[in-house]
Amino acid sequence: MTVKQVSTTPFDDQRPGTSGLRKKVPEFKQLHYLENFVQSIFNAMGNPSGQTLVLGGDGRHYNREALAIIIRMAAANGFARLLVGCDGILSTPAASCVVRKYQAAGAIILSASHNPGGPSGDFGVKFNGANGGPATQEVTDRIFAESQRISAYRIAEAETIDLGRIGVSELNGTRIEVIDPVVDYVELMSSLFDFDRLSELLRKPDFRMCFDAMYAVTGPYAVDILEQRLGAEPGTVIRGEPLEDFGGGHPDPNLVHARELVALMNSEGGRTDFGAASDGDGDRNMVMGRGFYINPCDSVAVLAAHARSVPGYRAGLAGVARSMPTSRALDRVADELHIPCFETPTGWKYFGNLMDAERITLCGEESFGTGSSHVREKDGLWAVLFWLNIMADLNKPAHEIVRDHWQRFGRDYFTRHDYEGIDSSSAEQLMGRLAERLPTLAGHKVAGLAVATADDFHYQDPVDGSTATGQGVRVHFANGARVVYRLSGTGTSGATLRVYADLHVQMASMLNAAPQSVLKPVLAAADELAGIRTLTGRDKPDVVT
Ligand code: G1P
Ligand code: ZN
Repeated sequence: MTVKQVSTTPFDDQRPGTSGLRKKVPEFKQLHYLENFVQSIFNAMGNPSGQTLVLGGDGRHYNREALAIIIRMAAANGFARLLVGCDGILSTPAASCVVRKYQAAGAIILSASHNPGGPSGDFGVKFNGANGGPATQEVTDRIFAESQRISAYRIAEAETIDLGRIGVSELNGTRIEVIDPVVDYVELMSSLFDFDRLSELLRKPDFRMCFDAMYAVTGPYAVDILEQRLGAEPGTVIRGEPLEDFGGGHPDPNLVHARELVALMNSEGGRTDFGAASDGDGDRNMVMGRGFYINPCDSVAVLAAHARSVPGYRAGLAGVARSMPTSRALDRVADELHIPCFETPTGWKYFGNLMDAERITLCGEESFGTGSSHVREKDGLWAVLFWLNIMADLNKPAHEIVRDHWQRFGRDYFTRHDYEGIDSSSAEQLMGRLAERLPTLAGHKVAGLAVATADDFHYQDPVDGSTATGQGVRVHFANGARVVYRLSGTGTSGATLRVYADLHVQMASMLNAAPQSVLKPVLAAADELAGIRTLTGRDKPDVVT
């Protein structure tokens, strides 16, 4: 067995975005492209000797081939031990769990999350640190800097390791353990939730649930926990087999892409009480009651309000956090619980420090992300189990729990409008113009709404003092409504403009309206203010959630 040192030159586009480096598969397959980025991660990590590295992915096209390369590179770089998910599978939350449990130095997770896969689809490489969470900004910057000065990478010349069987082998002195991707995660879930209560609920003859794994990574986890351990009817998990191209679908759990589940939940006379879906790599979740969509901003607020129903959270929450564009429903719960609520930039990496410092226990994003300090990633299946545990404890269906919540706290109507694949320079122009006008906006009326304050969101991490600027433009109106504009950091072609609108309503008679109609005047102001239609050339968004 020999280790090769391969000469290479930098690619200038390896700056990780909101969640790792995402590119089209053919870009990753360019000569040296993957290798350069992986070596840059290793270089940024420092001395690998004695260190453990966790490897796995969401099973999408190129997952196995990329893993085979990364394993040979990790061995050549001198890691002591690799923990690799069998068949190359590890959901993002499970990878985080394994890093923490085995005190690894970090993980490389191969995933482009909810983006479509396949030979011309998306691929991604994400590095997580020793706390199990996404690399901090500082580490991300270091990886990028390494990628800009790389001149060689190391790789072992070896047969491909068999990832299809659990077992141990050795390469260049590196111990390679192919592990069951599900067991450690299941053990963690059983330590947090009351599995007996959950099992009682799921075995009730009049309770039925449906979990849509979208042919992505959560299938094996959901089948193991929901059907095999908790006794839900076989067939509760649909689209449960991970496929390289997600069955040609878009593994994003929202009202548009989880169409089958949504139809089932909304069907007249249907008797499915609880529905859920998770994304490509298992960190997102969408939950629904019977004929009832639960907005992710409300979901995290409800979980926080009822955390004491769940054994793992009975001691209470240290604090909570939400990403800035997420509605303020969570803040209202935090106020009542007398705990702090932090507002962070979009992306999970900002929650990690708060969790490590034990400032928060629970957090969430409007983009179908909910999580807690049990790992350092958002966690789709965990959120579903949390909901089931609350339903079991309160003995109430999901829609009733949400309606009760609105009665108590008022309702934060929320929507996000995405304009996808727009011309990057028009997008930059739109954001640039908005930013220029910010200082003079307060007091102006836009489409009949008076602007109260407007700013470009920046964040100072309360734990390490690091700062993040340019994290989205926020406009607060005098009636309490809010609009946020930002450009996506996860796309792989053109630019995606995200426009978020929310409005808090307390009046009992106004709690059951359709969000798009309640928010119509706010969205009209959003358009007038930024000239969305003019600058994007679009008369409506591509995706509305
Ligand atoms: C999107 C979501 C964001 C989430 C990220 C990773 O990022 O908006 O909340 O953390 O995916 O799942 P964006 O494309 O908006 O940068
Ligand atoms: Zn994801």
